[in-house]
Amino acid sequence: MATMTDDLARADFGDDFTWGVAHAAYQVEGAWNRDGKGPSIWDTFAHGRSRVPGRRRIRDGSDGDVACDFYHRYESDTDLVRELGFDAQRFSISWPRVLPNGTGRVNHAGLDFYDRVVDACLERGVEPWVTLYHWDLPEDLHRRGGWTDRSVLGWFEEYVDVVAARLGDRVRHWMVVNEPASFTLAGYLAGHHAPGVRSPLKFLAAVHHVNLCQAVGARAIRAHAPDAAVGTTHVITPPRTTGDGPRHQRAARALDAVANRLFLEPNFGLGYPVDDAPFLRLVDRFRRDGDDRAVEVEWDFLGVQYYTRALVHPFPNPLFPGLPAMSKDHRTYDLTAMGWEVQPDGIHQALTQVHAYGKVPRLHVTENGAAFPDRLEGDRVRDPRRTDFYRAHLAEVRRAQRDGVPVHGYFCWSLMDNFEWAEGYVPRFGLVYVDYATQRRVVKDSGRWFQAFLGAGDRATAGS
Ligand code: GCO
Repeated sequence: MATMTDDLARADFGDDFTWGVAHAAYQVEGAWNRDGKGPSIWDTFAHGRSRVPGRRRIRDGSDGDVACDFYHRYESDTDLVRELGFDAQRFSISWPRVLPNGTGRVNHAGLDFYDRVVDACLERGVEPWVTLYHWDLPEDLHRRGGWTDRSVLGWFEEYVDVVAARLGDRVRHWMVVNEPASFTLAGYLAGHHAPGVRSPLKFLAAVHHVNLCQAVGARAIRAHAPDAAVGTTHVITPPRTTGDGPRHQRAARALDAVANRLFLEPNFGLGYPVDDAPFLRLVDRFRRDGDDRAVEVEWDFLGVQYYTRALVHPFPNPLFPGLPAMSKDHRTYDLTAMGWEVQPDGIHQALTQVHAYGKVPRLHVTENGAAFPDRLEGDRVRDPRRTDFYRAHLAEVRRAQRDGVPVHGYFCWSLMDNFEWAEGYVPRFGLVYVDYATQRRVVKDSGRWFQAFLGAGDRATAGS
């Protein structure tokens, strides 16, 4: 793999290209109840018991109470971003830190924290890229129906308004939502993520309200930051099959409709992809007059997030109506610690697919990365598989550029190891190793590889 990219250089991607790292509030901040923060659905979910006896909701029995303690360590963590040579740091705002009950009273201490994070980035020459919603809905709003209740349009507008009014003078890149497909499918259909709901109808209600909130959020940001670039992020999981008969093709189209097109197309003004996934017609129950227009958004950019392709089979998924069965293929592909197939050319396919709509002028890869079983040996973490993963994927991003796809940024998931949702702390995605017992950070070999690639090898060592 490595040989494919030996000749890649930072300059090949052009001057108008942002190199960044990403992380999300619940996964790194900790301080789950500090300084007036209210509980989120992830606090409740991680603290709660599984409905399946003997099974934990979070695989290692952990939670995000402390996580990477970014809440207290944001300055030294941002030092690391700069030390490794990245231009930008993508982080998310915790809604219940800002509005403990989701609406109403503003928690100024929470808002001040994000103000300081933005300034810490700017002081270090690192551009803050802000995601407004990365899955941590205020628990109080969940009790009032959360994403399944149409009132969320108003709640979300109020929240975005508060944040954009405070940070809009300094933040130039905004993303409304992180991966709607992931949190609606896992949170409302499969139930293995917060809030742990398993209901096809609630899933579809959440889908429609999230799509409308993309437009609500974009408008609220633009009201405070008219010159900022406003986008959102989507994980694109291209389907693949082991055969190409009509049944295989139908299964692939159904998966593509639900996993990828369901959130792209309504915002593009193309409606829901009901022809390839007929059960989506039930979304009509939640549609009101005027929604088709209200859901349209003109994005300045889209964030494309890619991890792997999905292997789909031409028979129904026993768990989910309307979805085909899926599995993993460890005979043909390497698997990461998440059990995901390593398929670098899938990122080219994902970028090409989004670009083909002709609806957005700029794309950024806002997440790409991999978990491997890293080991700390003294002061060193040797993670050649992660470096190979990045090199191979970067080569494919470059190939997409050469094919005319306007990719202008690449963000690694993640800066540092963190709380990987239902998988807890076991999968390590970072360029920086976190020793959770001491909160010590150790830059992995892959982080050093990026530092050299980005030409920052001579920067003073700050962290670790
Ligand atoms: C997601 C989220 C991240 C994950 C990452 C690895 O896409 O699921 O944006 O929070 O941690 O993708 O699974």
